[in-house]
Parts: sequence; C-alpha cells; structure tokens
Amino acid sequence: MAQEDVFKKLVSHCKEYGFVFPSSDIYDGLGAVYDYGQMGVELKNNIKKYWWDSMVLLHDNIVGIDSAIFMHPTIWKASGHVDAFNDPLIDNKDSKKRYRADVLVEDQLAKYDDKINKEVAKAAKRFGEAFDEQEFRSTNARVLKYQEQRDAVHERFAKALNDNDLTELRQIIVDEEIVCPISGTREWTEVRQFNLMFATEMGSTSDSAMKVYLRPETAQGIFVNYMNVQKSGRMRVPFGIAQIGKAFRNEIVARQFIFRMREFEQMEMQFFVRPGTELDWFRSWKEQRLKWHENLGFGSENYRFHDHDKLAHYANAATDIEFLMPFGFKEVEGIHSRTDFDLAQHEKFSGKNIKYFDPELNQSYVPYVVETSIGVDRMFLSIMAGSYCEEELENGTRVVLKLPAALAPVKLAVLPLVKKDGLAEKAMDIINDLKFHFNCQYDEKDSIGKRYRRQDAIGTPYCITVDHDTLNDNCVTLRNRDTMEQERVAIADLNNIIADRVSITSLLKKLQ
Ligand code: GAP
Repeated sequence: MAQEDVFKKLVSHCKEYGFVFPSSDIYDGLGAVYDYGQMGVELKNNIKKYWWDSMVLLHDNIVGIDSAIFMHPTIWKASGHVDAFNDPLIDNKDSKKRYRADVLVEDQLAKYDDKINKEVAKAAKRFGEAFDEQEFRSTNARVLKYQEQRDAVHERFAKALNDNDLTELRQIIVDEEIVCPISGTREWTEVRQFNLMFATEMGSTSDSAMKVYLRPETAQGIFVNYMNVQKSGRMRVPFGIAQIGKAFRNEIVARQFIFRMREFEQMEMQFFVRPGTELDWFRSWKEQRLKWHENLGFGSENYRFHDHDKLAHYANAATDIEFLMPFGFKEVEGIHSRTDFDLAQHEKFSGKNIKYFDPELNQSYVPYVVETSIGVDRMFLSIMAGSYCEEELENGTRVVLKLPAALAPVKLAVLPLVKKDGLAEKAMDIINDLKFHFNCQYDEKDSIGKRYRRQDAIGTPYCITVDHDTLNDNCVTLRNRDTMEQERVAIADLNNIIADRVSITSLLKKLQ
C-alpha cells in the first residue's frame, strides 16, 4: 500500500475509534488544532507518564515543575523569540498557497535521496546476493550524479540558512525548479520572515493592557524557575528540571495532521551542568533518549539522528531524533546543548544574579544547559504509525494497533460469550476486581469475533471470554492481541499474568 494511503487510513482510524478529532469539528474544524478523544487521551497520558517517570523517578537529580503558560513578556525578548523566532515563508502566486521555504528545499533534498535509494534497490534486486551496496553507491554513474547534485543543493541551503540569506533561499527554489504541488507552477513570491508567536493582551482596560505571548516552548518556564528550584530543592549541579505542558506556534504550514500543530504539548527537560562539560552531557543524553524510544520495540531501523545544519541562536550542538513516519523520516525530539545563553540573558534582562555557587569548585558560574525536548503529539503520531497494521486472515482483513502494551488505552477487555445465564454478571465481577489495577472495558454486543476486532482496532493487548464453563471452573479464555493465541487461565491468576506485562514499570525496568 502506498505510504500516502497508509497515512490517510491512519488519520481516519484515529477519528473512527476516538483517538483524535479535528477541533471544533461541527464547525468544520480549525486549522492545525486537534482534540483527543476517549482513547487518545488515555494513550497520551500513558506516553506522558512513560516520559515523566523515566525522567523524575529514574533520576534522583531530576525534578519536575508545572509553570504557567503566560509569562512576563520580557522573557521572550531575553530568549530571542521576539526578534528571531521566525520561519521563512514563500507564496505561490497562482494557487495563493503559503509554504515554508526551508521545507520546500528539504523536500527537494529528500527527492534526491529517494532517487538514489531507488537505484540501489533496483540493483540489489538485479544482482541478488552478490550485491555490494557500498561499492555500488561509490561507483554507479547515476548514483554519483544524483549525490553530487544533492550535495551541491545541500551546501547552498546550509549556507543560506546560516547567513539568513532569504534571496539565496528563493534562488535555490527557482534553480531547482520546485513547483507548487497545487498549481504546478513556479510563480513564487519573495521569501519573508514570519514570527510564530501568538500574542494577546492581559489587563482589564485598553490603556493598562500589556501584550503577552502564548509560550512557544515550555523551556523558558524552566529557565526562569531554575534558581527557585535549585534553592528550594537544595539541588546540586548537575541536575535537571522536567516539565510537560502546552506550547503554541502560529505555524505557516498547517498540514500533516498532528505532526505540525498550532497548539501542542511538549515534554522538556533542562539539564544544568558545569561549563565545559556540556558536550559530554549532550552525548550522554543523546544516547539515553534514543534508548527511551527504541525501548518501545518498533525496531531501531525506524530511528535515526539528524544533526542540525543550522544551529539555533542559543546552541553549540544540536541533533534531532527522527522516526520513520508514513511521510518519511521526521523529527520527533530535539536535543540541544543550549550553552549558558538563556540563563545569561535572563540575568541580563532581569538584573538579578542567578549564578550557581559550586561548593566543590568554590566558584560561582552560570550553568550550561543540555535540553531534551519532545512533542507529545508527534510521539503519539509516531506510535500510532508504528502500531497500525492490516493483516490478511482467512476470514478477511484484520486492522490491529500493535501498541506497546504499557501504552495501550485499554489493557483488558472482558467479554461474556452471551449476555444471559449469569455470564454478564460474572464478567462484571472480574472487572470490578481488576479495574483498580488497569483500564478494563466491558463489551457484550455482537459476535465474539466482531468484539475481538473492535479491541484489535484500539490496541487492547488482552481480551478474556467468560463462558458457561467459567461459572463452574472459575477459568476464562485469555486471548493475546498480536498472536491471537488463546489459553485457559484461572480468574485468580489474571492480575498476576497481565499486570506486569501492561504496566509502565515494565517499560521503565528495561531502561535501567
Ligand atoms: N525548547 C526547544 C524547542 O522547542 P523545537 O525543536 O522547536 O525545540 C521541540 O521543538 C519538539 O516539539 C519537536 O521535536 C517536536 O516534537 C515538538 N514540536 C515543535 N513544534 C511543533 C508543532 N508545531 N506541532 C507539534 N509538535 C511540535
């Protein structure tokens, strides 16, 4: 199935089964804003818990906070967001559609990669086992030509971004003959910078109103609280502060479902370290974060690092962890070595001393910061994309979400074979016992096969069937979502069998 079709199916699956709805749906939606439904909110909460516990429970030097969305407007001046939190935009004059100029060029680079990969795949098929990929890539004339073209564009692109050269950025689009996917033409406007922050007013009268911003990242709430936490928690460098919360960006391109949203959620952790040690910590956090992702079991081939061509104004090293989405490898998490930029700026703009006294060095300094920043919604999308499967069975197609059991919204479905003869009551007794341990669902409607399919579609890892024998032997049939295998187990053992396999703790233990 074409990857575009997979993505379309995923989006409609999310709506059909209560994971994600367009915001304001009955008013035809609101661009790039989404609501999470009854299944989505459970999955989202489980993702957040996996992240939070892996930070705050597993590290005795990381604590959490929850700072306000509204902050003093000078914070955004100090952080550089008022002046520099921009995306380069370009319009197509015929379709009147707006694009991010940098994304158009990145897509063009990906097209060169595709061409190269297609050549490699064709040759691999032709030569079979004798195929030497490395040799082919370094000698095949067509591959070398594509690679050379790609490298030339990439070099110009990186330079244009670093120099903030918008004219050159447009020229690359023109020279590469990039067309608007809607109109098919190359009639482009100039490239302009567009600030992504949403602003509103705080105060009761128009005279006294103050312009405030909806935060575009949660990180600044951590920076401005760093001293409060360090002093009240008697924290010693190195230490970290974690936070989960909403962020807002007036994104130019509002497509790709929950990949790029105007209101989204971030899970950020700022790790405060001694100056000079930040690049070691950067490497360590890169490793730890990749392990956290790979621990979910989607296969390490679906992840890769992407080091930044253009470093943000605050960073001396930066990388993204990318996941193979249905529309290619895309950023899910950013890891930045942010130097002392933010804290030093806040010291300057607030006029307050926020230096840390290091008792071991007997010295005061502004700590350096390594940040890990991951979008909850992108993580959600990557998990849905990695889990969605269509399997051909003898009796038709089965759509199944192979979610990691610990993240699944519902852990156990309890299904009485029939409603009568006391089976429904027995099923409710089981739920009433197990509901304190994990999320259970009761379903008595339709045939047992249809009920299994409904649970497969929401990713429930286990179903149990209560039948007439259950009333005598106190045993049920336990069905595994992925293998569809069934076994007879005692009701008394259910909690022991299931609880460990579906708990976040089981995931966390694998990280140690
Ligand atoms: N504090 C650093 C920071 O905000 P970022 O790379 O701009 O860095 C971090 O964002 C993460 O937030 C991204 O890796 C992505 O997962 C998520 N994110 C950023 N913009 C987003 C958007 N418009 N919609 C959904 N998620 C977004």
